Amino acid sequence: MATRSAEHVLDAAVEAARWAPSVHNTQPWTFSISEEEICLRADTDRQLRVGDASGRELLISCGAALFTMRTVLRREGLEPVVRVLPDPDRPSLLATLRAGAGAAADNRADDATRMLAGEIERRRTHRAGFADVPVPDRLVERLVGAARGEGVDLTPVRSPEAAGVLAALTQAAQGVQAQDRRFSLEVIRWARPPGSSRKDGVPAEGYPRRRARTDPDFPQRDYAWRHDWGSRADQKGAVATGVVALLTTPGDSRREWIDTGQALQHVLLHASAYGVSAAFHTQALEMDQLREFIRQEVCSGRYPQMIMRLGVTFDDKGSVRRPLSELLD
Ligand SMILES: Cc1cc2nc3c(=O)[nH]c(=O)nc-3n(C[C@H](O)[C@H](O)[C@H](O)COP(=O)(O)O)c2cc1C
Repeated sequence: MATRSAEHVLDAAVEAARWAPSVHNTQPWTFSISEEEICLRADTDRQLRVGDASGRELLISCGAALFTMRTVLRREGLEPVVRVLPDPDRPSLLATLRAGAGAAADNRADDATRMLAGEIERRRTHRAGFADVPVPDRLVERLVGAARGEGVDLTPVRSPEAAGVLAALTQAAQGVQAQDRRFSLEVIRWARPPGSSRKDGVPAEGYPRRRARTDPDFPQRDYAWRHDWGSRADQKGAVATGVVALLTTPGDSRREWIDTGQALQHVLLHASAYGVSAAFHTQALEMDQLREFIRQEVCSGRYPQMIMRLGVTFDDKGSVRRPLSELLD
């Protein structure tokens, strides 16, 4: 039988997993905790039927929650024992996670793990230009290593031409989606109005009311949609694009989507510890033709899973999450 403290660690892991990033803050996950094991399941009622019909972004989001739980176990000096997609007959069961033996002889977490764990609640998505402060190459190399450790490539897009192509495709995708009633309604459905009491969706405080353009310019999703919503914080100094980067995988399986989410959260937590935030621009990856074009022309045949910019921001943003009681099966 598990000790009280092992149960306590599993509770803490699920509590922390709530803070993982998810597409439109849909939080498309549920958890069950038994004496020894956490089961992570996809909550397909929260899947984006238009933008994410295949469930790819849903699984990336859940992968980020899985990495968060692994990090909490490690912080407690326990080695996580994870089975991803353990049962082909139960496709919604994405992973099981148990606390194995102590990772270190003295059951103490290493500094790197404690650093990652310290960022779980602090990390925030950015939705504007960055301050004119460079992201050190050495840090980018570490982030590449963090993703590789999860079996996923993080590729910084160093050529201005390639960054320009990605920006142009993001503009095209945003333009098409803005004119498509089904896409627009889905984004509006997940926009959280100012002062709302709901605990999911993208809060109006999470993006600027007026965004300064960057060069090349990566448009944001239009969460405000005809409303005068958004933070009034001054955006004058926030015009740097930052480091454009892609997460890619060799294939496009459900396993690789979950691994992308794990790599994403590893990269984001590590970056956050060094004061670097990420802005995401996944519109073009939600359109099959544009995703295939990016795969062939920019990613040398690998599958693009996330498009992001990494940079420094001095904005303070909040976000919301549902309480644990709503997430437990
Ligand atoms: C698969 C995936 C796709 C995302 N795509 C976008 C995007 O296109 N634009 C955006 O502003 N944020 C995007 N996000 C970030 C989410 O909106 C964000 O994680 C969520 O609102 C929770 O806020 P937080 O990250 O600040 O905690 C994406 C996140 C994930 C996991």
